[in-house]
Amino acid sequence: MKLGHIAAACLSFALGASAFAQAPTVLKIGYATSKESHYGVGSTVFCDEIEKGTQGRYKCQHFANSALGGEREQIEAIQLGTQDLVNTSTGPVGNFVPEVKIVDIPFLFRDYDHARKVMDGPIGQDILTKFPSKGIIALAWTENGFRHMTNSKRDIVKPTDAAGLKMRTMENKVHMDGYRTFGILPTPMAFPELFGALQQGTVDGQENPIPVILASKFSQVQKHLSLTGHVYSPALLLLSPKVWNKLSDADKKVFTEAAKKAAVAQRKKVNDDENNGIAQLEKDGMKVTRTVDGAAFREALKPAYVSYAKEFGADNIKKITDVK
Ligand code: PAF
Repeated sequence: MKLGHIAAACLSFALGASAFAQAPTVLKIGYATSKESHYGVGSTVFCDEIEKGTQGRYKCQHFANSALGGEREQIEAIQLGTQDLVNTSTGPVGNFVPEVKIVDIPFLFRDYDHARKVMDGPIGQDILTKFPSKGIIALAWTENGFRHMTNSKRDIVKPTDAAGLKMRTMENKVHMDGYRTFGILPTPMAFPELFGALQQGTVDGQENPIPVILASKFSQVQKHLSLTGHVYSPALLLLSPKVWNKLSDADKKVFTEAAKKAAVAQRKKVNDDENNGIAQLEKDGMKVTRTVDGAAFREALKPAYVSYAKEFGADNIKKITDVK
C-alpha cells in the first residue's frame, strides 16, 4: 500500500471514530400528560438545556401521556435503569422515599409562594438528599399544582357536599387518610385508567390541579369543578443512577442546572393554566364553584392532623407551616 493510501485510510478511520464518539446518548423521559402541558413544558426545557450544555452528547426522547405507564411503574423503571428520567408528582414517591410523605399533607401550604419557598429552601432540599440511597437521583422539585375536586354529581362547597362521593385518588395514603375525614370514599387508581373510569361512572369524581384537568380533557366527563385547593401536589424530576453515575462532574452540573430551569418553566406554566384555564373549563361546559368553605375542610381534617403529627412529628409540620 502506498504511503498516501495509508494516510487516507488513517484519516477516514479517525473521522469515523470521532463520529462514533459523538453519537448522542438518547435519554427516555416520561410523564403523565401531553407535551404541551406543564410536565411537557418543564421536560422540554430540561432536555433542551442538557443538549445545549453537553454540546449534543445527550438528548431526550419524550414519552408523554403516560406512554411508559403510571407514575409508580415509571419510578420503578428509574430504579431498575430501564427508563432514564421521569417528571412525576409525589403521588407514589413516598412509597419509595418515606421522607417525601410530609409534603403531601392536605392544607399544609398556604399558597404557591409558600410551597415553592419550602421546596426550594432547606426543608425541600434536604428531602432530595434522601433519594440516592433508594436508587433514585432527584434533580429538582418541579410542580403539579394545587389539587381541586371534580365530580359528576354536585357542587362541592363544604365537606358534607363531598361526603359519599366515590373519588379516584392517587395511590397515596397521606391523601387518602385526609380525604376520608371529608367523608369521601377514596378509590386509589393509576392515572392512565382514570379517564375511562370517569366515563364509565366507576368513580364519581377525581381531584387534580387545573393543568391536569385541562390537559386530560376532564371537562368531557365531569360536570362540576370546585376550587378546593385542598392539597399542594409537588413534582420531581427524577433520574436513574445508571445515567448519573456515568456523568462527568461538569455534566452533572449541566443536568442539575437544567433541572432548575425546568422547574421555573413548569411552575410558570402552572401559573398560566391557573390564570387562564378555569375560564376555558367553564367554556368547555364545567360548572365552577369558587366559594369553597376552606375553614370547614380544615376543621374536618383535624383528626387526620392528629395522626400526621404522630407519624411526621408536630414540630416538623410546624417547621413547614412557619416558613414565611
Ligand atoms: O393524579 C395523578 O395521578 C397526578 O396528579 C398526575 C395526573 C399523574 C400528574 O402527576
